Amino acid sequence: MPSQPRWLLHPTAKQLTLGGDARLIVDPESGLNRYGCSPMPRDEAFSFASSTATSISRHGYEAACRLHDCLFQDETERIAEDRLHDVTSHLASTLTRTLQIDTRKPGVLLSASGTDSQMHATAIVACSERSPLVSVVCGSDETGSGTPYSVTGRHFDGVTAVGHIVEKGTRIQGFPEIQYLGVPFRDDRGRNKSPEELDQEVRQAVAHSVHRGYVVLLHLMDQSKLGCMAPSLNLVDELRQRFGDAVQVIVDACQLRLDMEDLATHLDRNHIVLITGSKFFTGPPFSGASLYPSSMVERWSRTNHRLPSGLSNYLDRCTLPDWLARATPPLPAPADIGMRLRWTAALEEMSRYFAIPRSERIRLLDDFGLRIKRILDEYPELQPIQSPHQRSAINNNGQGPELSSRPTLIPFRIAAPGHDTLPPEQAGALYQLLNQELTQHSMGRHMPHDLSSRACHIGQPVPLGNGLGAAMRISIGARIIAGCRDPETSIVDSGFLKVEEEKLRTVCSKIQFLARAITRSI
Ligand SMILES: Cc1ncc(COP(=O)(O)O)c(C=O)c1O
Repeated sequence: MPSQPRWLLHPTAKQLTLGGDARLIVDPESGLNRYGCSPMPRDEAFSFASSTATSISRHGYEAACRLHDCLFQDETERIAEDRLHDVTSHLASTLTRTLQIDTRKPGVLLSASGTDSQMHATAIVACSERSPLVSVVCGSDETGSGTPYSVTGRHFDGVTAVGHIVEKGTRIQGFPEIQYLGVPFRDDRGRNKSPEELDQEVRQAVAHSVHRGYVVLLHLMDQSKLGCMAPSLNLVDELRQRFGDAVQVIVDACQLRLDMEDLATHLDRNHIVLITGSKFFTGPPFSGASLYPSSMVERWSRTNHRLPSGLSNYLDRCTLPDWLARATPPLPAPADIGMRLRWTAALEEMSRYFAIPRSERIRLLDDFGLRIKRILDEYPELQPIQSPHQRSAINNNGQGPELSSRPTLIPFRIAAPGHDTLPPEQAGALYQLLNQELTQHSMGRHMPHDLSSRACHIGQPVPLGNGLGAAMRISIGARIIAGCRDPETSIVDSGFLKVEEEKLRTVCSKIQFLARAITRSI
């Protein structure tokens, strides 16, 4: 009797935690992964964490269950694999259509996370180059923690996307040696460099590398963990003019807080673009994709380049798009459908967001942005952080009018008497406590019940270096905007923002309470 392949048998919530690195592993006690997210809807928690990751929504979960059920009807391993390949292609084409870049005909390689996609793009550039390579990473202090590894072809975690145990930091088989050069937004004293200084630093790093015979993978940040962008597109133009094909731009748009106009511009400029469905768009953790300009896809379809053999640790054979099929080493059979389910949930969030007309979305983003500002004003210890690199404040980069030109990541420091600002270690402890129900915890003893009983999830703190504490982050994610539309009537009503505003007030009150308790104890 035919039976379903084993890789379909895990229940949906379990599948959602498979097909990625150890960041997806759920602690059996808390039911949460390392980033404080649940693979089941966690409606009871107040979440403003899309800068890092968000628990799956009910809509997303239902969409994932539908796909899982549908695949379950395929009876034999071979038919199921064919279907999984089709499902993956379908997800990729739905993604480009949803983001309105399908007319550019980009190549799409879906992945388990933004960090996986950084590694995929590095592999694709690296294997078509004979010269030595260097990855120059702009905003290296505000990207993923695995980036120094992924952009140099090294294992960025102890577990790979297809579940192999590897040694973090070692070179993935088949990758050439790739140098790393980070260009952080802040200097050694924690001071923000000016945009001109940063451009000059990138200019020098690229020129110096090219003169020494390197091909440069220039990782352009658009946008960072704190909503920043660098280098400027003017500098990119200058570098391409001076050095031509010795510079390949890879855009870190993993936050996906930019508009389709800007995505299209990057592709038109022959930039590779990395995105995720799990940050602004609030799909479950994690999902990534690398997008390749059509000219590159055409070139690849005709060449005999071979991708690094170690990619077999990261991709199953149903993931590959046709244009890469000739170039790949033998890949394993699928072991789960986690990545497909997570992308399905992310696309559900995207479609709910884009169901609202653009003018309304802009109005709602502005409305909620103002509400956040007003709330932060009520809590003097929560001090917003400004940066000269914030994309929304840069006006020479042909910005789209929606996400590219307004802040949806709101970083702030916590003032702590005697310390200027809460040190990173204490900020980390606060972040953990904030996301827990504390009624039985010593920290919750003197807290009003509406705060101690409520888990509140915000972005992971980002250390600012040199005694400057850590940036805590509140973010506007797609779900807050999508929640304003009644799916039955299509009526958009900002009443939902009022509900979210009250939740945010609870989050800020709990942060203040915890910050005061923690400061008293240091
Ligand atoms: C700007 C940026 N790039 C890349 C990443 C890595 O993405 P992922 O967490 O999906 O691996 C992050 C993660 O926070 C990020 O903020």
